[in-house]
Amino acid sequence: MLDSPWNCRTMTVPFLHGRKPFRMSSSKTLEPQKPLLIAIDGPAGAGKSTVARLLADRLEIPYLDTGAMYRAVGLLALRAGHGSPLAESVHDEIADLAARHSIELESDGEAVIVLVDGEDVSETVRTPECALMASAVSAISGVRRALVPIQRRIGLVRGCVMEGRDIGSVVFPEATLKVFLTASPDERAKRRQLDLEGQGIEASVDEVKQQQRERDLQDTSRADSPLHVAQGSVVVDTTGSSLDEVVERLLSELESTSNFSLDTNGGNTIRSRNHGGLVRRRSAPIEEESS
Ligand code: DC
Repeated sequence: MLDSPWNCRTMTVPFLHGRKPFRMSSSKTLEPQKPLLIAIDGPAGAGKSTVARLLADRLEIPYLDTGAMYRAVGLLALRAGHGSPLAESVHDEIADLAARHSIELESDGEAVIVLVDGEDVSETVRTPECALMASAVSAISGVRRALVPIQRRIGLVRGCVMEGRDIGSVVFPEATLKVFLTASPDERAKRRQLDLEGQGIEASVDEVKQQQRERDLQDTSRADSPLHVAQGSVVVDTTGSSLDEVVERLLSELESTSNFSLDTNGGNTIRSRNHGGLVRRRSAPIEEESS
């Protein structure tokens, strides 16, 4: 069952929304091609998920929502009868839940499907209760020790746009591009409130803002892997920006901060200055470049 990282307990697939993807090519040197890893961290409601998904689409690499994994563990803890805050005496029990249960992420092309032991819990894990519990369980080192290696394995298969709180600092400090996405507290709360409304969950902007404040405090003040701007991250404030503007900004950051550059003549192409001669395509992952 664990013979390939894609067969491990957690997996995801790229989201493709019909936009022409970027293609990557590599140099004539015989260096092995490094996977393209993009780390997106930031507080709740900064727009990480949507931006990460669109970026993965354009780059044609998988997208991984690591928050969904912590939410799944949060749900397991709620179902085991735990409430937030969590006493230290239950930390081992919760870490054990994370290690023992099957957590899988899939995509239906639009949203992340979260499966816990094969049960579709995608809607349940998005509730405010589960979000708070996810934040509480994510402070347990044993939970992080169970999830981080899986995230690394997934990312290293074919590269990834991975979003969370510790991707640029702990999971992939060596990522090709590290981004810290943020927005004003008002805008973050408004976006999140709209998301919840879309799921049929009623909450006022003030309530959402209060929950986000609580979660931000927990996520930034925990001892293990707290949310912070990782060294080498580009800080992008998305307040007042459209999704397209943010994605374009990240693509140009990728061009300027890494070995990749956009080939504007050829349209949507990313070229590596270090690695050439190979081009990745959707159906055949790596093939010889024709030109
Ligand atoms: O991204 P999200 O809101 O779905 O994440 C839910 C919680 O999971 C968040 O409050 C903190 C935690 N988390 C984390 O600690 N590390 C990550 N890489 C992702 C999420």
